[in-house]
Amino acid sequence: MKERLLQYLRCPACGGEIQIGVVTQREGAEIIEGELECRACASHFPITRGIPQFATLDDVTADKAATATSFGWQWQHFTQRDARYAEQFRGWIAPVEPRFFKDKVVLEGGCGKGRHTQLAASWGARDVIGIDLSDAVGTAFDAVSGLENAHVVQADIYHLPFPRVFDYAFSVGVLHHLPDPRGGFKSLAGKVKAGGHLSAWVYGAENNEWITSFINPLRRHITSRISPRALLHLSKLPAALLYLATKLVYRPLNRAGDGALAGRLFYNDYLKGIVEFGWREQHTIVFDHLVAPTAFYISRDEFAEWWSDIGAREVEISWHNKNSWRGFGQIP
Ligand SMILES: C[S@@+](CC[C@H](N)C(=O)[O-])C[C@H]1O[C@@H](n2cnc3c(N)ncnc32)[C@H](O)[C@@H]1O
Ligand SMILES: [Zn+2]
Repeated sequence: MKERLLQYLRCPACGGEIQIGVVTQREGAEIIEGELECRACASHFPITRGIPQFATLDDVTADKAATATSFGWQWQHFTQRDARYAEQFRGWIAPVEPRFFKDKVVLEGGCGKGRHTQLAASWGARDVIGIDLSDAVGTAFDAVSGLENAHVVQADIYHLPFPRVFDYAFSVGVLHHLPDPRGGFKSLAGKVKAGGHLSAWVYGAENNEWITSFINPLRRHITSRISPRALLHLSKLPAALLYLATKLVYRPLNRAGDGALAGRLFYNDYLKGIVEFGWREQHTIVFDHLVAPTAFYISRDEFAEWWSDIGAREVEISWHNKNSWRGFGQIP
């Protein structure tokens, strides 16, 4: 971790200021191994492989740990980067655009392998902090190495080790995997300063009945319970079907003429967005949908309630790919 991260940290137990304790290894500007300590309650937090650890899987409830374990494996395996991530990310946080990040202090709730932390930093954030509960933080740390304005912290989204200091917070594809999605959303919103902004993207209940009726029982009872390595191989079959369908049918039809024919294809609004991705990324997407023990599909009405609960202003909720909801609003 870089020392400039200290200005944003607070003890998750008591809210006290954090200081650097013992340091046993440094590499350039990074503290690689050492310890942080709370000035108020004397709690200690290790810095391991460059990452401050405010929570580990041993500290949280079994349901939270199960989700984070599955994703931890996923993001340590699917570490690839893709030039299309920027466009995909813009789709998830619209109406926010890259220039919005300029000079902002930004928090990402559930950064996974760090692809969006890295983009936020490269779009000019003053500092961006990606937090995640799982061991994916190691991949995220590698993804942002060399970026002096990007930081990775291992923490639980429900017990964030920060004061209310952020200009902007976002969370993409995380809240619906939490045992209490609304609680996670509130916790994240609680770290944005008055007048700052928040973005969230979640799976929609609408138009996903085929998933909630047919895929969810499979996910809950089988695919999230087998070992990730077994799922890696098992998921190659549906991934191959998806790959063939997108490359042989969805891509050509979406490119042809006015796309009217493609518009009649099953789930086209979503699938047309992934037709350009290669095999590995499509395999990641299929794996991602099958691995999580918890996944909620959230209706527009419920999502709108989250925003009114926190008293957000000028809220914009929009339908993304006709299968998910993205929201953006100002924190009072
Ligand atoms: C589907 S991944 C999305 C990752 C990233 N936002 C992206 O789009 O690439 C969900 C992430 O949420 C993280 N997560 C799950 N429960 C969490 C918790 N309680 N606190 C923080 N992160 C959590 C997982 O470890 C995982 O990396
Ligand atoms: Zn403390």
